[in-house]
Amino acid sequence: MADVHNRPLKTMRNTLYFGDNLNVMREMQSGSYHICYLDPPFNSGRNYNIFLAGSKAQRKAFDDIWRWDDAARHNQAAVLHYDGHHPELVEIMDNVSHCLTGFDNILKGGSKGEAESMRAYLAFMAPRLAEIWRLLTPNGSVYLHCDAHASHYLKCMLDVIFGSANFQNEIIWYYKNASRGKRRLAKAHDVILWYSKSPRDYTFNRDEILVPFESGMTEWRYAKGGQSGKAMPKGKTPDDVLVMPSLNAMSKERLGYPTQKPLALLEWIIKAATKPGDIVFDPFCGCGTALDAAHGLKRNWVGIDLTVLALEPMERRLRERHNLQPKVDYRIEGYPTTREDAILLAEQNPHDFANWAVTRLGLSPTPNSNDGGFDGSGKVVLWENHHLAEATRMSLPVIAEVKSGRSLNPNQVRAFRTAMQDTDAAIGIFITLHPVTRGMRNLSEAAGTFEHNGKHYPRLQFWQITDTYFEEGLIPVNLPWQIDERPKAERHYGGEQTYLTT
Ligand SMILES: C[S@@+](CC[C@H](N)C(=O)[O-])C[C@H]1O[C@@H](n2cnc3c(N)ncnc32)[C@H](O)[C@@H]1O
Repeated sequence: MADVHNRPLKTMRNTLYFGDNLNVMREMQSGSYHICYLDPPFNSGRNYNIFLAGSKAQRKAFDDIWRWDDAARHNQAAVLHYDGHHPELVEIMDNVSHCLTGFDNILKGGSKGEAESMRAYLAFMAPRLAEIWRLLTPNGSVYLHCDAHASHYLKCMLDVIFGSANFQNEIIWYYKNASRGKRRLAKAHDVILWYSKSPRDYTFNRDEILVPFESGMTEWRYAKGGQSGKAMPKGKTPDDVLVMPSLNAMSKERLGYPTQKPLALLEWIIKAATKPGDIVFDPFCGCGTALDAAHGLKRNWVGIDLTVLALEPMERRLRERHNLQPKVDYRIEGYPTTREDAILLAEQNPHDFANWAVTRLGLSPTPNSNDGGFDGSGKVVLWENHHLAEATRMSLPVIAEVKSGRSLNPNQVRAFRTAMQDTDAAIGIFITLHPVTRGMRNLSEAAGTFEHNGKHYPRLQFWQITDTYFEEGLIPVNLPWQIDERPKAERHYGGEQTYLTT
């Protein structure tokens, strides 16, 4: 068996995958994981438009709006015309295809509005839930995090895939802090559907999640009543309603990832459903809450996410909370950690490549990057030296353009100079995979220089992605630079910033 890049599969402990989880899961070994927690987009119709307004990667990662398009047809075909890649899925895919047909009938063909998006959403979920069933160990469990928009359809789908006898609980996560309208009740809960793969052989560590007895009755019974003299239990089995606040704008653990779930919620699930050493799998891992919780509880973990924007905060949280270094303490697949990886990503997905290149520098991907504009923007801080006080710093707007192809020409520099003028950028960074031409360099000189500490630096700089681009916190530029802080609401870890200096 081979991974998504046709390399032989190694032991899959503590690994982050970057890519579409259906492709990645298809190449994973059956029976690998003790628990799968998944928090897919919900078909809530919401646009989490607070992170990267309008950029392509943002749309992919955070637009929870579904269409019956080629991607939906492809998802449906993965079920209706299953290629038998894993023989144990043939019958299940057949059953799921009847389920999808049933949903189509309910949704009456589903070509418009909500019906269309629900149909596309269910076609997306069907092959992925089937793969998750395959990947679980015989005593494994799935915890599917969803909400009232689609939970009823997803429960039917899980009944078909896992068997209704293996339904264990519908867990209500009551997060309380709902926003309130005037025309209906406030939405204040999510749904987590728990199914086991086998009806009896599954992990439920009741003792790990006991809650205190509420009335004095139990104490009385063990002290004076019928149970007198016996050891009193430490607590009782919790209800299937979990009361826990969601993350708000002020939460310390916020990483700026719009759909981030609270660590405590994931710790609760993982404690209940796994033992130390088990492997936790999250195929929609976002900024890595489940992986963080798993690591803290001494479980192993494997996560997948589609967007590089998720990998950046994930890397950060694993480093800062658990002192984990990528490639040393865990594997990363599909996310560029070498120049060759970057070239592969650029070939497969130029948009993700551009997003990766600018986020790597701590800049934010920008909308409409296709129209001759630029791919990233932010602020840099010029320091007298790295250790000077806050008051001496000067913050300058910077934009970046990314070109992955070999065909580089002066017109691209002209367009970028125009973008610098239009945005009043003090500095422009032109990032390439391949060397720029002499004509481009000549043109860049016309953008002029800026002065800092008595030295002149070019305003328009070319940075080629070489091996140094992958060194932690270093980029190949001879400037005492530091990326400015993002707005507070987007940050979790205060203080430390990335030095952009050699
Ligand atoms: C609701 S968020 C998960 C948030 C996560 N539980 C956390 O606490 O950070 C859903 C994630 O699924 C990812 N995603 C969407 N479609 C995907 C796909 N086909 N393959 C892998 N990841 C996908 C998105 O990029 C997004 O990060």
